[in-house]
Amino acid sequence: MAAILPYSDVNIDLAAAELRKGSVVAFATETVYGLGADTFNPEAIAKIYELKRRPTGNPLIAHVVDLASAKRVSTGWTRRSMNLISACWPGPLTIILPRRPEVPAIAAGGYDTIAVRSPRHLLARSLLYACGGAISAPSANRSGGVSPTTAKHVARDYADQTDLMILDGGPCTLGIESTVIDLSESKPVVRRLGAVTIERLSELLGPIEVDMPVEQSSSPGSSMRHYAPTLPATIVNHESLAQDLAVAGRAAVLCFEGSIFPEQHFRLKMPQDSEGYAAAIYDSLRRADESGCDRIVIERPPHQHGLWSAIHDRLRRATTA
Ligand code: TXA
Ligand code: MG
Repeated sequence: MAAILPYSDVNIDLAAAELRKGSVVAFATETVYGLGADTFNPEAIAKIYELKRRPTGNPLIAHVVDLASAKRVSTGWTRRSMNLISACWPGPLTIILPRRPEVPAIAAGGYDTIAVRSPRHLLARSLLYACGGAISAPSANRSGGVSPTTAKHVARDYADQTDLMILDGGPCTLGIESTVIDLSESKPVVRRLGAVTIERLSELLGPIEVDMPVEQSSSPGSSMRHYAPTLPATIVNHESLAQDLAVAGRAAVLCFEGSIFPEQHFRLKMPQDSEGYAAAIYDSLRRADESGCDRIVIERPPHQHGLWSAIHDRLRRATTA
């Protein structure tokens, strides 16, 4: 079992020392938990790929505490990127920019660009201050699985890793990954929907293109089946819920208040508001997966705007066979 450590100065110093030694440490951010290593240490980065069983061509996000650290890993800090971070950092926005040659290629999956984010969570920020550099970290799930939003989720995914240190910062308040925007070329392109909405980005940058490749290409991590539970999962409209659940067997159902279907099923009530829904989604998918049911049924949220579009994106990926 991996070790869960509460958030304290002593444990931050311990974890920073581990990172400096070239170890991998899991830590809380406001979006999801990350599996971190020193961006400038290629052997340490290789351990992340191995632990997570992530294909090596899928690049990582470098987490930084501020603009000065961001400039140590990336170039291309024009007025556009500066304006964007003054509005959205620290926070759930990841920016893709040209990679500095000093950054090992493996930290960016071999790409000439690098994704950079300054997290808002105090635990992540303390860790970044303590280690004094940049921490490359993907979400701390095993590749393709459901992202972790508590320290316990991480511990369960890495139950076989007795040496892994997990810094517990409580449940993630946003609960859905950062928005990824590519500023490495002349036109800004959104590569992953996330906690910063398209509406907000359009206010800041003007009309904005969204290009989320279905298979490996410009954002290799966005292959369609992702964030997926082990049980088969489907998404069903409110009107069809009762009919879908009238058959034999037992389903774990992520549904809204007042949905009507037979009692035999396991009901996981989801919040009606997008912030609440996003914060609950991965924990609910994990609980559904561990419920002993035969399958998972998700009641389709009726709204499309704002954060709901990122939620629909994750639900689509979680229900892709
Ligand atoms: O909220 C988050 O972003 C969390 C926390 C831990 O910060 N991290 C996270 O990392 O979600 P990960 O590795 O699970 O997802 C990063 C995404 C992947 O889809 C990856 O392919 C894309 O960002 N990405 C990273 N670097 C890229 C690059 N240079 N070019 C294109 N896409 C990139
Ligand atoms: Mg991920």
